[in-house]
Amino acid sequence: MAAVRGAFTNKLGFILAASGSAVGLGNIWKFPFEVGLGGGAAFVAMYMIFCFLLCFPVMVTEIAIGRKTQKNPVGAFTALGFKNWRFIGVFGVLAGVLILSYYNIIAGWAFGFFFEMVQGNFDVSNNFGVFTSDIVKVCIYAVIFMSFTGYFVGKGISGGIEKLSRILMPTLLLMIIGMVLYSLTLPNAFEGVKFYLIPDLSEINISIVGGALRQAFFSLSLGMGTLITYGSYLSKKDNIVSSAAYITLTDISIAFIAGLMIFPLVAFINQGDMSAVASDQAGPGLIFVTLPQAFATLGPTLGALVGGGFFLLLSFAALTSTVSLLEVPTAYVVDELGITRTKAVLFASIFIFIVGIPSMLGNGASEFFSNQFKITGSTDFLSFASKMTDTMLLFGGLCIVIFAAYVWKKENLNAELANGYEGYQHKGISKYLDFTISFVCPTILAILLVLVVLSNFFGINFF
Ligand code: PHE
Repeated sequence: MAAVRGAFTNKLGFILAASGSAVGLGNIWKFPFEVGLGGGAAFVAMYMIFCFLLCFPVMVTEIAIGRKTQKNPVGAFTALGFKNWRFIGVFGVLAGVLILSYYNIIAGWAFGFFFEMVQGNFDVSNNFGVFTSDIVKVCIYAVIFMSFTGYFVGKGISGGIEKLSRILMPTLLLMIIGMVLYSLTLPNAFEGVKFYLIPDLSEINISIVGGALRQAFFSLSLGMGTLITYGSYLSKKDNIVSSAAYITLTDISIAFIAGLMIFPLVAFINQGDMSAVASDQAGPGLIFVTLPQAFATLGPTLGALVGGGFFLLLSFAALTSTVSLLEVPTAYVVDELGITRTKAVLFASIFIFIVGIPSMLGNGASEFFSNQFKITGSTDFLSFASKMTDTMLLFGGLCIVIFAAYVWKKENLNAELANGYEGYQHKGISKYLDFTISFVCPTILAILLVLVVLSNFFGINFF
């Protein structure tokens, strides 16, 4: 069975692939604009706390369920003997389908910006709305992107996903660090750093807390079974806890460094006035508007080179995430319906592309999909779908910890975690995980989920 399903060649391969899933547009596109809208450093602080306190334990749990059962997120619950809890997996597959449907559109924009940058068309940032409403262009990029994703998922675990992550992740990191160093040399850069790093705790309200929590789950690919699926390809000899720690740290670091790149640039472009990130440059357009202006300052040749390189690598980062998103429905269809991987990929990617059409039309091309989907702070279908799916991830994460702690039971979870981690039960980390998985995650996630739903969907804010 294991041989047929494929497996990661070793622990490093798993960590890189899972980090590849985690690191993507969530870190480089979403994190900076959410920080911008969330008022800066206070959001960053909340995000960090949530990653360690809530997300890391959920991640460990997901990987353990996957490895124990060697199944996709739906089959996993049945394999453990709890058929009634399969709904968590079904919900996860649905969330994955919806996320990929719009994620693919933004990945297509990033890929399109690669071509704009290499042609030296830095002005595209002044007309971002014109770019996103050019439906023919956007559609072509989205088709190309989905085809790449399908191609790599079709190649299977070690052939596709793993090899891709090994080369691209480190390259991306180096590129971003280079950009950080450059952005810090620009005039007014320090204003951006201040906005990003010095928290004003008086600013904290439910929209910041909820936003930071949603961002943490999305960025770490949690709550929909991606890590159940990837865990199912992990060997029994590998240490789940330390792998999860590496993945979490990698993801947080890259988001953090991406912020350190963007905010000095925003400060530079606006002569030190950071109010722009919460107004006209705010939202999903932030990196697409800010970065090309920074590349332009490098001059036509270097700008085209650096700008082109950046958006190409961003597209690669997005690709390792889209691959993980498509892997979930694919593994489900392969395991449960028994059809071949190639057919499953073809079916899933075409279906998801169709689901993504409203998101594609919702950024200017169609009046209806651009303006009729009201949710706090936006009216377009893509933002609506994104807030919906973020909330689904929180719900998924909550159900997964409750299931592991009280249905599957802690002893079984701990036994699985002890595979590949000798003496786990006697280590301090096992106490921390026991406590967070049994008490902290279920309570805090349940409370915040209710508050987030009330705030986002009903406009009711308690603080
Ligand atoms: N974590 C990915 C990113 O940050 C997105 C993602 C979410 C991937 C959920 C898989 C599952 O870009």
